[in-house]
Amino acid sequence: MSDRLSGKIVLLSGAARGQGAAEAELFADEGARVVIGDVLETELAATAARIEARHPGRVEALRLDVTSPDDWRAAVAAAEARFGGLHVLVNNAGITNQRFGGLQPIESLPLEAWNALLAVNLTGSFLGIQAAIPLLRRTIERARAKDPHATGSIVNISSAQAILPSAGQANYAASKWGQRGLTRVAAAELGPLVRVNSVHPGPIDTAMVQVSDPSQLDSLVADMPLRRIGTPEEVARLVLFLASDESSFCTGSEFLVEGGRTAATVTRG
Ligand SMILES: NC(=O)c1ccc[n+]([C@@H]2O[C@H](COP(=O)([O-])OP(=O)(O)OC[C@H]3O[C@@H](n4cnc5c(N)ncnc54)[C@H](O)[C@@H]3O)[C@@H](O)[C@H]2O)c1
Repeated sequence: MSDRLSGKIVLLSGAARGQGAAEAELFADEGARVVIGDVLETELAATAARIEARHPGRVEALRLDVTSPDDWRAAVAAAEARFGGLHVLVNNAGITNQRFGGLQPIESLPLEAWNALLAVNLTGSFLGIQAAIPLLRRTIERARAKDPHATGSIVNISSAQAILPSAGQANYAASKWGQRGLTRVAAAELGPLVRVNSVHPGPIDTAMVQVSDPSQLDSLVADMPLRRIGTPEEVARLVLFLASDESSFCTGSEFLVEGGRTAATVTRG
């Protein structure tokens, strides 16, 4: 534990569990004050309680449905009211086709599934950025009075599916590819005050990839150079770097944390 985010105020979506919860906990351990939002209110309260127990007064939890502009406005307002500003936004909330019966070819993909994944994964990130911009700008302009190179940071959690997509993932891959474009445009528009980068995890051991048959997981990782699934903490450490001033010259970039999945295919013969 150190203070790599000392003094920073961070807003994270989808932080009730999985990677978002790991990021919120690590960020608080590193000195940040965190506003965490999710639609899973019971899990969110449990995550907030864990952080509060270790770092009293450094966490605010609230219901945040990322598809709702009003919820985003309330989350940003909470960051200002409780902690006085905003330095970092992590757009982490995401959904897959799990809730629509699993992977499906385009031919039979229901429009409802297409729209739902685009709404949460892509529009949710757009709404978060839009809502956060004014407070991020005000906070960083204040910080620049002391440090002329101070920057805010937005991290969009995309996916390895946005680098190397698979069949049956049209809506998921399209939503995650969309985040790449959103990231680059936001980097162009928000510089020099705010840096914007995307993170491309996969596969990571969270509720999102839970499978009924463990052999499905074996086949998923068999062709990957590192031959295993990643942990939420391994993603959190990369997001920490991007949230912190250690990444002060990184913007508009794509950062992979995926065990080499998109770099090479292992051939066994
Ligand atoms: N697990 C993986 O293998 C993997 C791989 C690549 C990318 N990702 C991405 O990483 C991010 C985190 O996923 P995870 O692996 O921790 O899975 P997860 O399902 O544990 O976490 C996702 C979180 O997002 C929340 N969420 C869903 N809809 C929401 C909404 N409308 N508003 C607010 N919150 C909402 C969920 O309640 C949940 O807490 C997602 O964007 C996901 O697409 C995951």
